[in-house]
Amino acid sequence: MAASEEHDSPEDPQPAAAEEETKTFKDLGVTDVLCEACDQLGWAKPTKIQMEAIPMALQGRDIIGLAETGSGKTGAFALPILNALLETPQRLFALVLTPTRELAFQISEQFEALGSSIGVQCAVIVGGIDSMSQSLALAKKPHIVIATPGRLIDHLENTKGFNLRALKYLVMDEADRILNMDFETEVDKILKVIPRDRKTFLFSATMTKKVQKLQRAALKNPVKCAVSSKYQTVEKLQQYYLFIPSKFKDTYLVYILNELAGNSFMIFCSTCNNTQRTALLLRNLGFTAIPLHGQMNQSKRLGSLNKFKAKARSILLATDVASRGLDIPHVDVVVNFDIPTHSKDYIHRVGRTARAGRSGKAITFVTQYDVELFQRIEHLIGKKLPVFPTQDDEVMMLTERVTEAQRFARMELREHGEKKKRSREDAGDNDDTEGAIGVRNKVAGGKMKKRKGR
Ligand SMILES: Nc1ncnc2c1ncn2[C@@H]1O[C@H](COP(=O)(O)OP(=O)(O)OP(=O)(O)O)[C@@H](O)[C@H]1O
Ligand SMILES: [Mg+2]
Repeated sequence: MAASEEHDSPEDPQPAAAEEETKTFKDLGVTDVLCEACDQLGWAKPTKIQMEAIPMALQGRDIIGLAETGSGKTGAFALPILNALLETPQRLFALVLTPTRELAFQISEQFEALGSSIGVQCAVIVGGIDSMSQSLALAKKPHIVIATPGRLIDHLENTKGFNLRALKYLVMDEADRILNMDFETEVDKILKVIPRDRKTFLFSATMTKKVQKLQRAALKNPVKCAVSSKYQTVEKLQQYYLFIPSKFKDTYLVYILNELAGNSFMIFCSTCNNTQRTALLLRNLGFTAIPLHGQMNQSKRLGSLNKFKAKARSILLATDVASRGLDIPHVDVVVNFDIPTHSKDYIHRVGRTARAGRSGKAITFVTQYDVELFQRIEHLIGKKLPVFPTQDDEVMMLTERVTEAQRFARMELREHGEKKKRSREDAGDNDDTEGAIGVRNKVAGGKMKKRKGR
């Protein structure tokens, strides 16, 4: 394999950059009908990564695409694939691998939005969903398959008549995640049953050495399209930290939610249990909060996400299952309630806001136990973050009500656990995450208003 060719050209003279500014999708070689689709989505001109990657992809090159969160990487791989599909129509043309189920649905929606006028058919193959209906979808031989690795393997091994032997394009979105150890055996299996002679695109906002590993294994003379410096966070993102004792995390969270009331929040927790607990706690205090984590069944997961997307809930509490790729433009604030243990997750989490040129805020809680992790994050992003300003006396005025809500949340969590256990024994599915708010009214009042001392 030839060495990868750098395509990022920071030393480019100014005039070339200015010229690039005015480039259209058509200038990049995208066919008219797809240019119209971009227009309909309100994409007036290509983003930087699209400018870099699309012409290379249309030339038939393999691509490693590295660009910041919310910069249009999905379009950068979807457009060249749809373009090629139009030139040589074929079933089971492309496979997109993603690390999470929700992201698979989102990518499928993006392909369908761009490809609606050309009648593109997609199938989403992910775990936690009825396998039978997926087999039927695959039997219809869609053009594009968007999958999480595990469930795809199930179908490759067990669904009669389904194979990917004619595949022309393989995409790994969130490539560094797909290539990490958790997916190693699955990815190896998939690579064995798809043609060697295909195009491969890897995209992410962060890349690891593992990508180079795969480069050796599966890429052919790839072009590296990198439009950001190695681990850049978005310019329009205001990032803060808050150094607080661990035992006051809940109280500070409530303070911030009151302080920034009217915004949409994504709050990241480190475990399913803490995500669920914090959601219950906030609901007990009258906030419209909803959880999303791996211990919920898939219909509840999608239900939560859709309610948040539709603005029926203003706070989404999530584990890292929601940290990558999800595109919810109205997210104003990301809170790292539990600091991420892997620094790179920080970049993805905070990238859920300030997308596509918008602005946004990120606030990271740092307790006495998190100092080292936080320093690692600052080192990774190459920035020292400012403190988020708080009025500590006002925060402390919230403690009593928060303590009461914590007590109810713990009770509900216990009841919820027992209910779940019982319903599993009955073979039922009763994990209604919003059902457990019966005691909410016992906590006085609705949403907690800040009691100003004036
Ligand atoms: N050329 C464009 N002009 C305007 N908006 C665009 C353009 N391309 C994509 N977008 C929009 O930008 C948003 C972010 O795109 P996308 O989800 O592809 O980002 P990403 O780079 O994959 O981010 P992440 O690293 O978080 O996955 C989407 O809402 C998308 O519709
Ligand atoms: Mg993406």
